Amino acid sequence: MIINTNMKKKIFIASDHAGFDMKSKLHNHFSNFIDLGTNSNHSVDYPDFAEKLTKEVLDHDGSLGILICGTGVGMSIAANRKKGIRAGLVNNPEIARLIRQHNNANVLVLPGRFMEEKDAMDCVESFIDSEFEAGRHQKRIDKI
Ligand code: RB5
Repeated sequence: MIINTNMKKKIFIASDHAGFDMKSKLHNHFSNFIDLGTNSNHSVDYPDFAEKLTKEVLDHDGSLGILICGTGVGMSIAANRKKGIRAGLVNNPEIARLIRQHNNANVLVLPGRFMEEKDAMDCVESFIDSEFEAGRHQKRIDKI
């Protein structure tokens, strides 16, 4: 059996109510993800879940996070307020790869109400299977 190194990486996932259905599908498929809620379609506030997830990502070196809300914009704004978090809103797998390789993004944000399940899965796979390329990209990140 081939063990993908990324299977060992800690990966946290969280959503608000608008991202709950998509989160459930992703969590069922990638069963090793650590689910931080929300746990139903009952209305909640996305900043609370962005806060919860970014804290875990910052506390666990080398870990990654996935955040989902309706558009992905609220989660992106909230997550990127935290120093050390680089969150990218993505709707295709190539961008999901590039935000790891070029931006060293540690949080992938998905627009749960505007994506098909298969596309979301492809984005997640691409994100967790890609690595930061450093080099010229590091100096740019250092300027942020
Ligand atoms: C919730 O209705 C919705 O506003 C939220 O999920 C998100 O899209 C905000 O950016």
